Amino acid sequence: MSSYAEPELITLINRHHSNLYSLCESLENIANNLPRSVNKQACLALSRSIFPIIYEAHEFEETKLFPYLLKSNEQNKALINSLSRLKFEHYEDETFAQEISEALHEFVTGENTVLAEKLSYMLRGFFEGVRRHLAFENEHLLPLLKNENI
Ligand SMILES: [Fe+2]
Repeated sequence: MSSYAEPELITLINRHHSNLYSLCESLENIANNLPRSVNKQACLALSRSIFPIIYEAHEFEETKLFPYLLKSNEQNKALINSLSRLKFEHYEDETFAQEISEALHEFVTGENTVLAEKLSYMLRGFFEGVRRHLAFENEHLLPLLKNENI
C-alpha cells in the first residue's frame, strides 16, 4: 500500500465533508426561514445540487475510502460493522436527498402544495441525520487514516 495515499484520502474526505456541511447549513437556513423570505432561485439551484453533492461523497467513500480502510484493518470487526452500517445510511440518505430535492422544488415552484411546516420537518430530519453521520465518520474513520501516518 503506497504511503502517499493517506494524506490524499484525508484531503479528499475533508473536501467532501466540507461540501456536506455547507449543504446542511444551506438547508438549515431555508428551514429556519420557512415559510417566508425564501429565495426562489437559490432554492431551485440548491434542490438540483443536493443529490449530486451527497452522491459524490458516498461514491468516494465507498469506492476509495472504505476499501482502503478495510484493507488496512482486516481484523477490525467493529470497523467492518461500522462501514456496513455507514453504507446503509448512505443508501437511506440518497433516497431522502431525492425526496428533499423534489419537495423543495415543488414548494418553490408551487407545482404541488407541500406545506412549509412539512418541508421544514423533512429538511431538519435530513441535515440532522447527515451531520450525525459526518460526526461519526470524523470521530471514528479519520483517526484511522491519521494514525497510519505516525
Ligand atoms: Fe459517509
